[in-house]
Parts: sequence; C-alpha cells; structure tokens
Amino acid sequence: MTKYSRIIGWGKHVPERVLTNQDLEKMVDTSDEWIITRTGIRERRIAAPEETTATMSVEAAHAALDRAQLRPTDLDLIIVATSSPDHFLPPVSSTIQDMLGAKDVAAFTLVAGCTGFVYALATAHQFIATGAYKNVLVIGAELISRFVDWEDRNTCVLFGDGAGAVVLTASDRPGGVLSSVLGSDGSLGDALIVPAIGCKEPFSQKVLDERTHYIRMDGRRVFKFATRVMSKAAVEAVKASGLSLSDIDLLIPHQANLRIIELARRHLGLPEEKIFINVDRYGNTSAASIPIALCEAIEEGRVNEGDNLVMVGFGGGLTWAATVVHMGVMEALPRLVAWRFIPVGSLSFEEMKVIARVTMDSLAFKASALLLPLYSKTGLRRRRK
Ligand code: ACO
Repeated sequence: MTKYSRIIGWGKHVPERVLTNQDLEKMVDTSDEWIITRTGIRERRIAAPEETTATMSVEAAHAALDRAQLRPTDLDLIIVATSSPDHFLPPVSSTIQDMLGAKDVAAFTLVAGCTGFVYALATAHQFIATGAYKNVLVIGAELISRFVDWEDRNTCVLFGDGAGAVVLTASDRPGGVLSSVLGSDGSLGDALIVPAIGCKEPFSQKVLDERTHYIRMDGRRVFKFATRVMSKAAVEAVKASGLSLSDIDLLIPHQANLRIIELARRHLGLPEEKIFINVDRYGNTSAASIPIALCEAIEEGRVNEGDNLVMVGFGGGLTWAATVVHMGVMEALPRLVAWRFIPVGSLSFEEMKVIARVTMDSLAFKASALLLPLYSKTGLRRRRK
C-alpha cells in the first residue's frame, strides 16, 4: 500500500558570525545600497574555521530529530543535499551518519545545486511511498563561503553558510508530501560553475593562478532562468497535488534574491503575506536555504497545522524543483487523547497553544471531513525533555 510521508521534525543551524554589507564594502568594490536594491540581502552568516558542512548538518539534524522524538538509530536513511561537502570522499552523508551515531543507517549525498533540498525531499518521499523505509532524515547544508572568491564582487556578496533538516515519517493517513516536480537544463550549466578541481580540470598551479577553483556565475542568465522556472514549477506542483493556488497557505521559495522571489510571487498572483522571506538575513545558502526558511517559518508561527506549503527552488545545473506539502494534524489526535493523562504542568506554553489550536482544527476537520478528505491534519509532537 502506498504510504504518505509527513514532516514530523525540523531544525536548522546557522553560524554565529554575521557578515554585513558594510563589512563587504571594506573587502570589495561594492555598496550596501547596491546589494540591498539588487538582491535584498543585508547580512549573511559565515562559518567559523572549525565548522564544516558536517558539523552544521549534525546540529540541524539533532534539532529535527528532537522535534520528531526519534533517536538517530530510528532512522532508515539519511539524504544530504549539498554542493560544498567536507571532502569529495568520503561522502559527507556518511560522516554525518557517523557523527550522529546513526549506526549502520543508509546515507547518501545528493548534488543538485540550490535545488538539492527539494530533490532530496522528493527522493525521501519515494523511499517512504514504496514502503521501503519508515523514517528518513533530509538535510540541506552548505559551507559555500569556502568556495566563493572573496575578490569577486559578482558572487561574494550573495552567499552564506548554514544547514536545515527535516524528518519524514511514513503514515497511512493522507497528507504530507503531496507532489513534486523536478527539472534540469544542463545546457545552461556554465552559468553557475566551479570551472576547475573536478576531473575535467584537476587542481594545478594554473587553477590557483586563475582562481578557477571558485564559483563563477553569469548572474543575468541565472536571473532570467530563475524567473522563468520558479512560478512555472510551483504551478505544476500545485496542479499535480490536486489543489489550486488559492489552497496554498505559504510559499517558501529558494532565498537567492528578493527580486526573483517578488517576480515569482507576482506571476503566481499570491499576496505578500503568503511568501516567506529571510534572504535579507542569510543571503543565498544554496541547498540549505529552503529547509532553513521552512524551519524559521514554523518557529515564527507562519505555518499552522493543516496548511498547504509550496517549496520551490532553482540553482546549479541549472535545475529547478517544487513540492507541495500538507502539514497535518491527524497524528496529533491520539496525543490529544493521551493528553488527558499528561499533567498540564508538564506542558510548555507553546504546546498548550498548539493543543488548543489542534482541538479547534480537529473539530473543524471532523465537520468538513466528508467534503474535504484531503484536509487531514497532523504534526503535534511532544518536545523531548
Ligand atoms: N557591487 C556593485 N556592483 C556590482 C556588484 C556588486 N557586488 N556585482 C556586480 N556589480 C555590477 C556589475 O559589474 C555591473 O556593472 P556594469 O554594468 O558596469 O557591467 C552592474 O553591477 C550590473 O550588473 P547586473 O548583472 O546587470 O546586475 P543585476 O541587476 O542582474 O544583479 C545579480 C546581479 C544580483 C547577481 C542578479 O543577476 C542575480 O541575483 N542573479 C541570480 C543569481 C543567483 O540567484 N545565483 C544563485 C543560483 S542558485 C545556486 O545554485 C547557488
């Protein structure tokens, strides 16, 4: 029987060090005004020397597992989306699996540029839908500041470091990941490229002199591509989910450029309050941007049980992807029943608020269940003490 895959945990980690536009003004020929008007970015996070993609991922993963009330050994699979792994070998996914103590759990790394997280979520969903796996940890993480040429103003103002993670679990109840749309156009690959240090041009003095081991980008081409694919992918994913755009409660786009997000919003005809934006604080964290944004949207109360979310990204490849996720509440009902046996004093204020909202939602759900079977709800998990 086909299983549904629900998001039951989420977490993020961003480095402490903040690099502002004013800091960048001292490093390259740029200005706060140029960066804000062209990109919407005000600051970004830069990893400390001892941090790596793996260490940031582990922090985000712990938070997500804690939320899901799962142990690392409860996982069946770990998928890590990144273009900035600790090493070419071993895969950073195995390093993370070991650091988490997820003994013998399957792990692999998926590379699809900034789109990687949505690709990884779609992949995790397939493993769950077929019944192969029950619990899958999906991470999007980048330490991209070490692949950026800090002398190139075209790129260095754009990127930041961070990691986000979600836990997907199998469920028999409708909801969770409803649809995914994935795409790629490799003919545009040179618009966003690290020209050297792959097998085509191994590391050499020439590479070092020409600085071709850093990211090179044709910003205008990527911009044009992004504005073309973002809204199209979102519309296709919504259609494939059986919903319509008016059913969408929040769009969580890849956070690369405020202008790109704004153009996509207008194409989709969505009001501003239905778009989540944090590019001003983190810049483009590539594959980490969507899971970090999802996490912050939930933390800021922008995602409620029963909401339909669209996550949509574009990036290196060039690639694009969109997914529709229904954040449900049905799994919470057994917990509500159990709640009668839980001393109220042991619940946090946040949990009590969620329970009150869930109760209202579940009553509304029961009333509308015959007409709207898809609108099932989930998600309440008791925070581990
Ligand atoms: N400060 C000041 N001036 C700058 C800077 C800077 N940091 N960077 C470029 N400029 C200059 C350019 O040199 C150019 O000068 P010129 O006219 O004398 O040649 C001028 O500003 C305008 O350049 P444009 O490329 O036209 O600027 P645009 O409005 O397109 O904005 C930007 C540039 C922000 C890069 C935009 O094109 C963009 O966001 N593109 C998409 C990039 C993106 O999303 N990349 C990530 C992909 S996802 C992934 O997988 C990592």
